[in-house]
Amino acid sequence: MNTGFIGIGSMGGMLVRALLRSGTLSPKDVWAANRSRAKLDALSSAFPGIHVVSGAHLVAQCNLIFVSVGPKDMAAVLAEIGSTLSPQHLLVTTSGAATLRALEDRIPCRVAKLIPSITQEMGAGIGLLMYGSRITAEDRNQLEELLGRICQPIAISESLARPAIGLASGGPALIAYILQSMIDEAMRSNPELSVELADKLVQETAMATLRLVAEAKMTRQEIIRRVALHGGMTTLSLEILSRFVPQAWQTVFRETAERDKLRESSVL
Ligand SMILES: NC(=O)c1ccc[n+]([C@@H]2O[C@H](COP(=O)([O-])OP(=O)(O)OC[C@H]3O[C@@H](n4cnc5c(N)ncnc54)[C@H](OP(=O)(O)O)[C@@H]3O)[C@@H](O)[C@H]2O)c1
Repeated sequence: MNTGFIGIGSMGGMLVRALLRSGTLSPKDVWAANRSRAKLDALSSAFPGIHVVSGAHLVAQCNLIFVSVGPKDMAAVLAEIGSTLSPQHLLVTTSGAATLRALEDRIPCRVAKLIPSITQEMGAGIGLLMYGSRITAEDRNQLEELLGRICQPIAISESLARPAIGLASGGPALIAYILQSMIDEAMRSNPELSVELADKLVQETAMATLRLVAEAKMTRQEIIRRVALHGGMTTLSLEILSRFVPQAWQTVFRETAERDKLRESSVL
């Protein structure tokens, strides 16, 4: 089925490559548009046979269209393609910024949001789906089947968007930051610790800990209980972390929710 991708940056490029690599789409099914040319050239060299077109041409060819542009560029995309969209189109935006309601007020087609995660680079992780009021059961099945080949699609209500996006889509960056700061501060505490060794210790430990949860079905609370022995250094470390970490996360979730509210009203 002809599938359009407007915006071939980090997320749009990742989605189209993952869908092509997994064999979910074949190059002849893919219609791609991007503001600048270089990313389109790279994509069509990697996947000969894809169609490189303008946004307007793409809308004429595809009923399913993914739009992966930054929040500030969404208005320009809608200005370009809005008048050519009709109820037969299903537009899926990867931007969380505009509400589904605001999009439905602007364009006559069915509308959904897909908030991807960088983990789809390896065909894994969560793809958060939110559906507008015009979406049919058939649309949901089509999207969840398509995306199920490259991620675990989870449909949520838009009212849950901020914390869910923070956990699933922002999550890789937040987790990477926490692991990196553990490495940096361990090395600062003892300059004899090499980056290679610190990196290996943290990388292997993080992966094995997640396997304990996923495969050995050990809860996170159980892991903490079994490692943090009374009077031990891990217990002291957790006491120190508990003074700062919950407050830090409270601030993260509160301030991002506040920023989201402001952005929603200004994006389209
Ligand atoms: N990065 C993440 O982890 C992540 C996760 C979930 C959701 N998102 C959301 O997904 C959206 C895209 O993010 P991204 O990280 O992929 O951004 P990005 O790397 O900057 O990619 C955006 C792409 O859109 C293209 N573009 C901009 N205006 C356009 C227009 N009018 N017509 C056609 N193409 C246009 C840009 O082209 P140029 O080559 O000219 O710049 C660029 O290739 C954002 O709304 C972001 O909030 C991102």
